[in-house]
Amino acid sequence: MFLFVLSILFTFSQAISLPVKIGFFIGNGTSHNLVPFLETLNTAATAAFRNKSNYVITNMTAEQVHHLVVNETKKLNYDIVVFPGGSGNGMADDIGKKGLEQIQNFVSLGGGYIGTCGGAFVAIQHALLYGPGPTGHGPPTQEPYNRGHGLVNVSFTKQGIDALGLSNSYSPGQNVTIMYWQGPIVKDIDFPENILRWGIFESEIHNLYPNKTTGEMIHTPGITATKYGKGRVVLNSPHPELDPQVPNIYEGELRWVLDN
Ligand SMILES: *[C@@H]1O[C@H](CO)[C@@H](O)[C@H](O)[C@H]1NC(C)=O
Ligand SMILES: *[C@@H]1O[C@H](CO)[C@@H](O)[C@H](O)[C@H]1NC(C)=O
Ligand SMILES: *[C@@H]1O[C@H](CO)[C@@H](O)[C@H](O)[C@H]1NC(C)=O
Ligand SMILES: *[C@@H]1O[C@H](CO)[C@@H](O)[C@H](O)[C@H]1NC(C)=O
Ligand SMILES: *[C@@H]1O[C@H](CO)[C@@H](O)[C@H](O)[C@H]1NC(C)=O
Ligand SMILES: *[C@@H]1O[C@H](CO)[C@@H](O)[C@H](O)[C@H]1NC(C)=O
Ligand SMILES: *[C@@H]1O[C@H](CO)[C@@H](O)[C@H](O)[C@H]1NC(C)=O
Repeated sequence: MFLFVLSILFTFSQAISLPVKIGFFIGNGTSHNLVPFLETLNTAATAAFRNKSNYVITNMTAEQVHHLVVNETKKLNYDIVVFPGGSGNGMADDIGKKGLEQIQNFVSLGGGYIGTCGGAFVAIQHALLYGPGPTGHGPPTQEPYNRGHGLVNVSFTKQGIDALGLSNSYSPGQNVTIMYWQGPIVKDIDFPENILRWGIFESEIHNLYPNKTTGEMIHTPGITATKYGKGRVVLNSPHPELDPQVPNIYEGELRWVLDN
């Protein structure tokens, strides 16, 4: 009976061999206290994969990012990589051109990428997972990026709720309060059409440079996703792992990036 239930829950099990391998990047440029993120990710993965023995989260260095894909066999060393908050430029410098190319190969070959705040900047501006944009540096982000931090409201689209399996928790348009800490802001029209808009900022932070940043953030997509080659990418501009933690967002994201 138990195995029967498991096999229904693991709709992806035909493609993925357990345990699901999750690499969590910690390097130059990442935030100093990543313990809350690792805790939230563990809660989310336990819910997503039903049992702690069905997944393993390991810290991943820049050197390990250089080997996301095993050259000869094209085998992936992880199923999912997570790039946390911090400095997007700092992280991109740390992993270098080789690391950015590895991320592109890894995702095209079927890997999952989840990026939050600085990790979303890495994907947008450096690994170009949302395309080259008009200047070759990805879809333009609103500058100055350092607009301040605080709680914001995010509403999920119907598409986002369905993709993340959140229908028992939220309805479309309902406010969900999440911490924001200077994550990337991209105008809706600046995201390519194939980018899925899952979470929309319903309020904004502009306290650091109010004259320059007021009105830039509200109603822009803050949680977005796309398919990239055979793989999948989800980017969070805000921080669902910080207080008030919203682990069910990551639970849905972990499942979605694997479902290919
Ligand atoms: C998790 O899996 C292990 C090994 O299969 C099993 O012994 C344990 O009972 C499971 N735990 C839960 C909570 O299902
Ligand atoms: C992974 O990094 C976290 C955060 O820095 C740390 O608390 C944890 O001990 C590390 N895990 C291992 C196995 O080194
Ligand atoms: C793997 O490929 C990269 C570039 O394609 C190359 O720089 C590197 O030396 C190769 N590594 C091995 C172990 O073959
Ligand atoms: C680490 O990042 C800082 C700030 O981004 C930079 O000044 C420094 O050169 C980096 N160090 C290494 C070893 O990459
Ligand atoms: C978020 O929305 C709720 C209900 O719509 C509201 O009570 C709360 O003040 C809002 N919070 C922020 C940070 O805007
Ligand atoms: C959500 O919160 C924002 C302010 O944070 C408010 O303007 C908006 O009306 C709220 N929406 C709903 C559906 O409560
Ligand atoms: C910001 O705008 C206010 C009023 O719109 C103005 O008084 C102030 O000088 C401006 N500050 C800067 C730094 O431009």
